[in-house]
Amino acid sequence: MSDPSKAVTYDELGFVGKIRIDNPPVNALNREVRTGMAEALTQATANPRVKVVLITSAGSMFSAGADLKEFDGQLAGPSLQQLQETIEMAPVPVVAAISGLALGGGLELALACHYRLAHKSAKLGLPEITLGIVPGAGGTQRLPRLIGSRAALEMILSGAPITAADAKSKGLVDEVIEGDLHDSAIKFCKQLVHDGGGPRPTRDLTVPDRLDESVISEALGAHARALRGRTTQTLVVEAVKAATLPFAQGIAVEAAIANKSLASRESLALRHVFFAERESGKVEAVPERSTQPEIERVAIVGAGTMGNGIAMAFADAGRSVTLIDNDEAALTRSRDIIRSNYASSVKRGRIRQETVDERTSRISGSTKLSAVSSADIAIEAVFEDMDLKKRVLSDLDSLFPSERLIATNTSTLSITELGRATAHPGRVLGLHFFVPAHASKLLEIVRGKETSSDTIATALHVAKVLKKIAVVSGDGFGFIGNRMMLDGYFREAEQLLLEGASPQQVDAALEQFGFAMGPQRVSDLGGNDVGTKVRLQLYKRESRPDPYFVIADRLTELGRLGQKTGRGFYRYQDGGRDALPDPEVEKLIETLARERGIARRKIGDEEIVERCILALINVGALVLEEGIASRASDVDVVWTSGYGFPRHLGGPMFYADTLGLAHVARRIWHYQEKLGPYWRPAGLLEKLAGENSSFEQWDRQRKRAIPTPAA
Ligand code: NAI
Repeated sequence: MSDPSKAVTYDELGFVGKIRIDNPPVNALNREVRTGMAEALTQATANPRVKVVLITSAGSMFSAGADLKEFDGQLAGPSLQQLQETIEMAPVPVVAAISGLALGGGLELALACHYRLAHKSAKLGLPEITLGIVPGAGGTQRLPRLIGSRAALEMILSGAPITAADAKSKGLVDEVIEGDLHDSAIKFCKQLVHDGGGPRPTRDLTVPDRLDESVISEALGAHARALRGRTTQTLVVEAVKAATLPFAQGIAVEAAIANKSLASRESLALRHVFFAERESGKVEAVPERSTQPEIERVAIVGAGTMGNGIAMAFADAGRSVTLIDNDEAALTRSRDIIRSNYASSVKRGRIRQETVDERTSRISGSTKLSAVSSADIAIEAVFEDMDLKKRVLSDLDSLFPSERLIATNTSTLSITELGRATAHPGRVLGLHFFVPAHASKLLEIVRGKETSSDTIATALHVAKVLKKIAVVSGDGFGFIGNRMMLDGYFREAEQLLLEGASPQQVDAALEQFGFAMGPQRVSDLGGNDVGTKVRLQLYKRESRPDPYFVIADRLTELGRLGQKTGRGFYRYQDGGRDALPDPEVEKLIETLARERGIARRKIGDEEIVERCILALINVGALVLEEGIASRASDVDVVWTSGYGFPRHLGGPMFYADTLGLAHVARRIWHYQEKLGPYWRPAGLLEKLAGENSSFEQWDRQRKRAIPTPAA
C-alpha cells in the first residue's frame, strides 16, 4: 500500500505496478526519491503478476531534475544512473507519464524508460547549460538516439524546454494526452501488455545522424549571443558527438565531460548566482508575511519613464493601477507609451491583443493626488529632486491610511531623510526599479533607518507579486548598484577616457569582458543628464574627488544627453541606436584632460578592464563594510541581474574571489602608486586578503553568526 509520508509510493493496480514520485515542491530526484524508486522497482519486478511499470508523479510537475545541493557533496544512495540502468534493463516495459515539467535529470529519467507519454501542457527540456553543466545522466547519449544528434544538440544548447506536441513530432514522446493523464496512462499500459509490447531500451537504438562541422557551427551560431564568453557549449558538442559510439563507451565519455563541466569555474559561478538569487529574498529579522492586506490596487505618482514601466509591471501581474501626474499632458503621453509598448509585444507574438486590452483596462490616470486613497500601496516616481519628493511623500502621508506602504523609486536619495518628511517614517522605503521596469529582473528594496520590518516584508511580497528578484539594501548614496556603478565602475571609465582611451575602446574592452553594453553606451542610453542631476544633489551633501564625471557633466551642459538627443558620448543617426564615434567628443575629452594636467597616453584593453573591474569590486567591498549590502552574494545578484555583469563570471564579488583577494589588493596598491590616493583598498578587502579569506567565506561566517529570526 502507498505511504503518503514517503517521497515515492508504490501501488499495484491489477498487473500495472505504479511508482509515484511525491517530493514537493518540484519532485527533485534527491536521495529519498532515488532510494524509494529503486525499492519500488525491485518490488515490482519481483512480482510475476506485474506486467508493466508506470512511473508517474504527484503535484503539478513530473520532476525538475537533480537536487542541486547534492552536487557539491558525496552522493548518497543509488545514483540516478544506477536507477536508470535498473529501469532500462527491467524485464517488463516501463512507461513514464509526464505532467507539467520534466527538466534535466527529470527528463533523463524519462529517457531511460521504454515508453513516454506527456500531457499536452507538459514541457520537456535539458536546462543544464544555464548552470554551466553538461547533462550527465545519459541526456547527451539517449536523446540523440531518440530524436537524432542534430535535434538533441539544439535542445541541449538552447536549454529551453519544448512543448509536448513538439516532443511528439521529434519522436521524444510516444503519445500526447489531452484528458486525464493518469487514466490515459493506465489505459496505455493495459493496451501495451495486451499488444505484447515489451521493454524497448533506448540504449539499443541507433543514432540516425552524425554531427558534421557545418551542423555544429550552425547550432553554435544560433546560440552565439546567449553563450558569449562561455565554454560549456564546446563540451556539449563533444558529449553529443560521443552518442554514435557504443552506448557503454558513450556514457563513459559523457560522465567524464559532465564531471569536467561541474568542476569548471563557469559552472561554479553560474551555480553561485543561482543560489544567490534564491537567498537574496531572505532577510534577517523580517517576518515571512506582512500584516498588510493583499495588494490589489496600486497608486503610482509620476507618469514618466519609470511610472509607466512600474504601472505595466503591476498590470501584468493582474493588479489595478492608478497613475497620478500633476501634468495632464504627461498622462496623455503615458497612455500612448503604454499602448505602444504593449503593441510591440503583440507584434512580436509575446502576448495576445485580448491580454493587452485586459491589462490596459486595469490602468487608469488621474491628476489628483487624492486618487491615492483607495490603493493598497503607493509608489512615488516623480523627478529626482529631494525637496519635490519630500513634498509629495508628505502629502501622500496625509492622504493615505497610516498603515499602508509608501515607496519611493529614487535612485540615489536618502530614504531616511525622505521618510522623515512624513509623520510615519516606518512605512516609507525605497523600491528601486530598473529600466524598463516591466521587464527588468531586479528590484532593490531600500531600508531607511526607520523603515519597519513589516514594511520590508510587504516589499518582499511586492517583489514576489511582480516575479522580480529582490535584494534588500541599506540606505546610502546610490544604494548597492548605483553606488558601485557611479563611485567605482563608471568613474574609472571616465578616468580612462581622460588618460587617453576613447569611448569606443572602453566600451569594446568591457563588452569583450562580458558586459552586455559598455559604460559609455549605457550612459547614452539612460541619458547623461540623469547622472548629472544625481551628482548635483550629491555635491550639495558630500564631496567627491576631482575629476569626477567631468566629461558626462560637460556633455549634459552641451545638450549631448545621449540617444534621446541623437548625440552623447557618441553620435546616433536618424534616431537609430548604432553608436558612432564622434571626433568632437574626442576633442572635448582632450581639452578636459589638458585643463586638469592629465598626460594622455595609449592604454591597453587589459588595463581598461582591470581598472574598471577592480574599482567595481573595491566599492562593492565598501558597500559590504558599511552594511549597505548584507551579503557579498547580494552584491553579485544586483550586478548580474540589474547591471549586465556577466553571469558566468558570478558577479563582481565572486569574480574577486576567483582572482584571489590578495591579488586584488596588490593590484589596487599598484594603481595607487601609479595613479594616486583615490585608489585605496577597502578595509574589508584588505582584511580578507590578509587572512587569505574570500567574500564567500565572509558570507558563510556571517550566516552562522546571525541568530535565526523568531518565527
Ligand atoms: P520622468 O521625468 O520621466 O518622469 C517624472 C514624472 O513625474 C513626470 O511625468 C512629471 O510630470 C511627474 N511629476 C513631477 N512632479 C510631480 C508631482 N508633484 N505630482 C505628480 N507628478 C509629478 O522621470 P523618470 O525617469 O521616470 O524618474 C522618476 C524617478 O525614478 C526618479 O526619482 C529617478 O531617479 C528614478 N529612477 C529613474 C531611472 C531611469 O533610468 N530613468 C531608473 C531608476 C529610478
